[in-house]
Amino acid sequence: MALEQLIEIVEGVGAGCYGTELLQEYLRKFVLDEIPIEEYCQWSMSEYTWQPVHRSERAELLVLCWQGNQRTAPHAHCGSWGMVTPYRGSLVNHLFEKTSGGRLKKLCQQTHRPGDVFLLKAEDIHQVTLAEDHQQEGGRISIHCYFPPLRVCADGGLEDGTELSCPCEMLHDSWSEKWLVRSG
Ligand SMILES: [Fe+2]
Repeated sequence: MALEQLIEIVEGVGAGCYGTELLQEYLRKFVLDEIPIEEYCQWSMSEYTWQPVHRSERAELLVLCWQGNQRTAPHAHCGSWGMVTPYRGSLVNHLFEKTSGGRLKKLCQQTHRPGDVFLLKAEDIHQVTLAEDHQQEGGRISIHCYFPPLRVCADGGLEDGTELSCPCEMLHDSWSEKWLVRSG
């Protein structure tokens, strides 16, 4: 299996030709077979990084690189759903709900190891942190697919104006910048 095959499946899921089970199976296999993705990996001391691998109107595939104590803020995905798998090192996915007062309440958290695949529903509010993994040295890597690609939110957050960190604008800017660099 090669990266091109995974991209083909991601596009097929985005187009509605394949189900999420197939994508889950391919993501797991991709990680367990240790398909090389080093060319997409780069780490930053200041924050986690995301590298575009593929993007179309329907879907995108990103590689995220983490180290130290890096984490996302709690955020929503503005209508995109996604699938994520740790590639190197384990991640913890924390789910939140909004209270009637507009605050965030933690619902649960789950640790995922390389090859585990977890689904992010379009309406989920979540945060990703690194699991304590004493056997894992060096930077962590995870693979993320979004349908459709993460977009800039018109209101900078959730529809009702709840103050959530929204990564979409930042992601979008980064995408443009990195895409131009890669294309050039
Ligand atoms: Fe997210």
